[in-house]
Amino acid sequence: MHSKTLLASLLAPAAVSAVLNDLAVRAGLKYFGAALGEGAFQSDSTYASLLRDTAEFGQVVPENGMKWESTERTQGVFTYGSGDVSAKQAQQSGQVLRCHALVWHSQLPNWVSGGTWTVETLTAVMESHISNVMGHYKGQCYAWDVVNEAVGDDGNWRSTVFLDTFNGTGYLPVAFNLARAADPSAKLYYNDYNLEYNGDKTDRAVELVKLVQAAGAPIDGVGFQGHLLVAGTPSRSNLAAALQRFTALGVEVAFTELDIRHTSLPAPASAYATQGDDYANVVGACLDTPNCVGVTVWGVTDKYSWIPGTFEGQGDALLYDANFTRKAAWTSVSSVLAASATLPPTSTSSSAQACGSSTVYVTATATAQPVTVTVTATVTLSQTATTDPAAIQTLYGQCGGRGYTGPSQCGPYTAACKVQNDWYHQCM
Ligand SMILES: *[C@@H]1O[C@H](CO)[C@@H](O)[C@H](O)[C@H]1NC(C)=O
Ligand SMILES: *[C@@H]1O[C@H](CO)[C@@H](O)[C@H](O)[C@H]1NC(C)=O
Repeated sequence: MHSKTLLASLLAPAAVSAVLNDLAVRAGLKYFGAALGEGAFQSDSTYASLLRDTAEFGQVVPENGMKWESTERTQGVFTYGSGDVSAKQAQQSGQVLRCHALVWHSQLPNWVSGGTWTVETLTAVMESHISNVMGHYKGQCYAWDVVNEAVGDDGNWRSTVFLDTFNGTGYLPVAFNLARAADPSAKLYYNDYNLEYNGDKTDRAVELVKLVQAAGAPIDGVGFQGHLLVAGTPSRSNLAAALQRFTALGVEVAFTELDIRHTSLPAPASAYATQGDDYANVVGACLDTPNCVGVTVWGVTDKYSWIPGTFEGQGDALLYDANFTRKAAWTSVSSVLAASATLPPTSTSSSAQACGSSTVYVTATATAQPVTVTVTATVTLSQTATTDPAAIQTLYGQCGGRGYTGPSQCGPYTAACKVQNDWYHQCM
């Protein structure tokens, strides 16, 4: 009796590592990315190799290197060494480059923030800064954060040298128009924190998008920074509702600086599980929002994070601990992405000789962007074997865990059902 059914439970370890950017792309996002800390990238090879792993991070953004104080510390003197670290890394690995940030009140040199300006002279300063910096990176940036944090914590317009000099919001369309002129290929973003709570600050940011649009200036996206708190992160549906207020205006959205910090350290183990749920809600909200293009974490490892230096006693906000071990939050993000990930149409070639009960050698190659999975495995076919396709979970799908009732067998092209935690086992 000839069996035409190739059992898909391939036994050899597959040459694939199921990781965040791969999963995000399979789930329909453009990228899962991270901020590149310029110091750590150049001094810590473990850090650098993780950040270069495009299966994990498909996008980078300079943590500091493109900010005003890095690029034009002295008026008219432009320095790109730090920003170029991220740009070069993105180019070398084919990662998406987010560029950050142009008009922002913080990390702004004193000559700007403390200067005495008229609308005309400050416009000239903005024009010079934006055209030089965007010009230097022209064609390389998927998106630029053109205006950062223009709204105060209370939901009023933030008093800055820009708002105060213009006596109002007139600087906003000016900035976006200058940015479009400097690099027409970059998506132009407004970027801010605490938009996630859908309160007064979110209302004001909606107003910002509308007023830029009403002025006839270009705005393509809104970045939700996502600096959030463990056990203080909104639900997935509330987060999606906030995102969708902006996509309803015709702009795309992204989480651009995601980290979810413990407000007190050391935190109990249960708080790390909660942190995982919070991360899953954020990533899930992006998945639930058409035109949410990606998620960027603001750092790779708890070893290097801006948080302890800014919020004393707080931290452990990222997906990898200080020893580069994946935390529960990593598993949660991986799981929520995997739950939405599908294998794109594959070109499949397989060959087998099967007759009776025998050992056959199966070589299967599935070509699917952005990863190529090649598996060679030894499969024993039994005369009585039957394969119910419905009982086979696909690559990256769930295959077990608390309360789970679906298929527990993995295939095709899948090595094993791997225990991620007690509630999620994944084909990978
Ligand atoms: C600033 O704007 C306010 C209204 O927003 C206006 O009442 C005031 O006269 C303006 N000040 C100057 C100096 O133009
Ligand atoms: C990292 O490893 C060291 C040495 O094994 C250990 O003492 C420390 O607790 C670890 N840190 C974390 C965050 O697990």
